[in-house]
Amino acid sequence: MMDYTIPQSGRAALDFLAALGVVNTPLTTKANEALAAAGLSEDTLADDLDERAKQIESTLAEIPAWRGANLLGEWHAEHHARVASEAFRGMEAELKPTFESLKQGKTTLRPDPNLSVPKYWLYPVHRTTGGWDKERHMGFIHGELIHRYLLTKLPRPPAAASAPGDIYTHRKLTAEEAPRRDYKDILEIGCSSGPYTLQLAGVYPQAKITACDISIAQLEQAQRNGNHHGHAWTLIQADGRATGLPDASQDFVTSFIILHELPVDVITDILREAFRVLRPGGDLVFGDVAPYNSMSKLNTWRTDYLAKFGGEPYWRGSSTMDMVGTLKKIGFVDAKSYGMKPIAYPWITYGHKP
Ligand SMILES: C[S@@+](CC[C@H](N)C(=O)[O-])C[C@H]1O[C@@H](n2cnc3c(N)ncnc32)[C@H](O)[C@@H]1O
Repeated sequence: MMDYTIPQSGRAALDFLAALGVVNTPLTTKANEALAAAGLSEDTLADDLDERAKQIESTLAEIPAWRGANLLGEWHAEHHARVASEAFRGMEAELKPTFESLKQGKTTLRPDPNLSVPKYWLYPVHRTTGGWDKERHMGFIHGELIHRYLLTKLPRPPAAASAPGDIYTHRKLTAEEAPRRDYKDILEIGCSSGPYTLQLAGVYPQAKITACDISIAQLEQAQRNGNHHGHAWTLIQADGRATGLPDASQDFVTSFIILHELPVDVITDILREAFRVLRPGGDLVFGDVAPYNSMSKLNTWRTDYLAKFGGEPYWRGSSTMDMVGTLKKIGFVDAKSYGMKPIAYPWITYGHKP
């Protein structure tokens, strides 16, 4: 991990955000009790998700615990990236020499100033002002202050308490799901600041890793991570639908948590591109969130609700599409989709190019 200290005021603000999660848990429990008291259960909840949302949300509308949870959730969604950006401003000058020195090393970055950025990508994902690239240093802010600091501090829900839980372990588990360890060329799509790339490098130390992303701010932080750890990654600013890599040049194409941030047609195009660049005999593993048909009706509604208000407009589409059918249509064989035990997260999508 890069060496830095978060100034006290920024750290306190981030700690406050994390503490909101603790308050939220009992409020959610109370809201669940209100639903049970109103007779809403897996048997009585509607099959249609929009109908179900009306049933649940009209029941909860007057429940103070629910209104409180929404208020806190809204505040968190609206402020987390802004609080993290402010914390960064207090460290920016001190980090400048580190940022300069970490441009040097074996990890290279090839920007594409002419890349035409897709419209869906400009959506303020996670309710972040301007999405992935508006804030010049979103790579450090998202990768270090939100992911490494804030998310690892959040309390884990009881169902996940006994599972291997931190966000880096999830990435390692996904990297290990591929059936082989001898891949020579690996392509990661949507690498962001490189947290999954780091795990890939650990699981496949002999492989040449290429990673693409649209966001230059994220790629710059990925380069710092690669160079800090002495890796020789090839980072390219490219759309995962058209990477520019030669046909049949990769043995393994992989990604972690990009699918739920993509419209269904983009996912299909990315899977097609993965098939094109894979060599015969190559594998695809994408790790992401669980599809709706694997969850209870109540949890499906909750996930959909949080996605809708949390700046995740593509979550429902990707969580209800036929991933295995799409893989098969493209030409993959042995296609499968399954949740890792014990909490069905990460959810793995696998395909093999014959
Ligand atoms: C949730 S982040 C992925 C996180 C990262 N893989 C990790 O392990 O944390 C989604 C990333 O996908 C990138 N992305 C979105 N659409 C893309 C596309 N068509 N091609 C390449 N990257 C894309 C975004 O810029 C963003 O950095």
